[in-house]
Amino acid sequence: MADRRPYIAGNWKMNKTGFEAEDFVFALLPQISGADRAEVVICAPFTTIANVIDATRGSRIKGAAQNMHEAESGAFTGEISAGMLRDLDVRAVVLGHSERRQYFAETDETLREKLPVALANDLEPIFCVGETEAEREANETEAVLTRQVEIGLADVPADRLGNVVIAYEPVWAIGTGKVATTEIAQQACALIRRLVAKIDADAAERVRILYGGSMKPDNAAELLAQPDIDGGLIGGASLVADDFAKLVAAGDAA
Ligand code: PGA
Repeated sequence: MADRRPYIAGNWKMNKTGFEAEDFVFALLPQISGADRAEVVICAPFTTIANVIDATRGSRIKGAAQNMHEAESGAFTGEISAGMLRDLDVRAVVLGHSERRQYFAETDETLREKLPVALANDLEPIFCVGETEAEREANETEAVLTRQVEIGLADVPADRLGNVVIAYEPVWAIGTGKVATTEIAQQACALIRRLVAKIDADAAERVRILYGGSMKPDNAAELLAQPDIDGGLIGGASLVADDFAKLVAAGDAA
């Protein structure tokens, strides 16, 4: 099995001002400076990305965005392009978070366009997939994940597939405190890896697959010990520096 570098990403969602972002980084940095096995990523709102990037320069933390538009430029009021993110030294971008799918009409077909654009701009896509509670109860989990992964990755160039980070985030576990059992999370992440392997077996060994949904310091180690879970996409627990530091430590130990 490939030795994949653990990947710990905090998703701040619509939280924190510039001052609060800097405060967080200054509290976090000394707590995570003793190791560097895990990659550490902060997905900040557009308005605080520059603060995060300036405050983390020279550190192990990568600044990331939570969304981007697929076009290079044009009449898309309120949107941000991949080139604009690169201009700020942003290095990764969350694509297809379930909140964007649910509240902002993000579709599989749009994601199919966004992934290659992110990669062409040297932004590491953190591509999110996951089933709703109703879909799980109707035994549709496998079909939903298959559709999301196959369409989302359809236009990714073969030589870049290994650079995509995929986050399995069951919608029923996000922000609910209801974490998926390690068995459910591992099964879904293994399915995702098999789907990537259908496209390219080597890329499937390299792709990092994250679990997201109520990951916390007290459940992270068990999740990260699963063979197909290479990291976490963390919402609530990424807002407090001390908690996020513990999650980074769990990633360093994985
Ligand atoms: P949560 O969010 O950790 O607060 O459940 C995860 C996410 O939405 O990425």
